[in-house]
Amino acid sequence: MGDVGTIRRAGAHPSTRWGIHFLPRPYLRHHAVEFVKRKRIQFRKRESLALAITLGKDGSLVGMVELSQLSPTDRRAELGYWIAPGQRGQGYATEAASAMCDVGFRTLRLHRIEAGAFVRNRASIRVLEKAGLRHEGRFRERVRSGRNWLDQVRLARLAPK
Ligand SMILES: CC(C)(COP(=O)(O)OP(=O)(O)OC[C@H]1O[C@@H](n2cnc3c(N)ncnc32)[C@H](O)[C@@H]1OP(=O)(O)O)[C@@H](O)C(=O)NCCC(=O)NCCS
Repeated sequence: MGDVGTIRRAGAHPSTRWGIHFLPRPYLRHHAVEFVKRKRIQFRKRESLALAITLGKDGSLVGMVELSQLSPTDRRAELGYWIAPGQRGQGYATEAASAMCDVGFRTLRLHRIEAGAFVRNRASIRVLEKAGLRHEGRFRERVRSGRNWLDQVRLARLAPK
């Protein structure tokens, strides 16, 4: 259950909330436990594939990457991820997002992978660009975060022809 501690600490950190606005506040241990249970259920229902990002040297959890809102009809999914605050800036999100795109296109036979990031979240936008997603537009004041309305960019990548 050390992983639950990592998830709780990441979820409670202001820098994570800055990028993912809908996290419960305060983010407590039971939120992390429920998050893991919810992802298992969604996986069984084929709604989502959430994978742990772990270090090769010792298997420790450094983040998570997910293809959610899996649509069998349109063969489309939404890409998301987070990296634990102390582990950022080492290319882990880029590697995980790129690998997840490969899984999505090759294994899940998706046609389209989409993602959104706040305009202010330059690191996440960079990750998506490096994973091969292309900008499709800017949505003004799409998300409410506390008292602020935030602009979001949407990016997508299509399956190789
Ligand atoms: C966004 C996040 C996943 C990035 O994880 P990471 O492992 O640090 O990302 P990587 O190291 O793979 O790549 C980060 C890239 O962004 C760049 N970057 C980082 N901070 C930046 C900034 N303030 N402005 C511009 N670019 C920035 C890095 O230089 C790097 O690009 P480069 O390789 O071209 O130099 C991480 O910061 C995080 O978990 N944030 C909180 C949760 C979140 O925002 N999730 C995404 C929601 S859309």
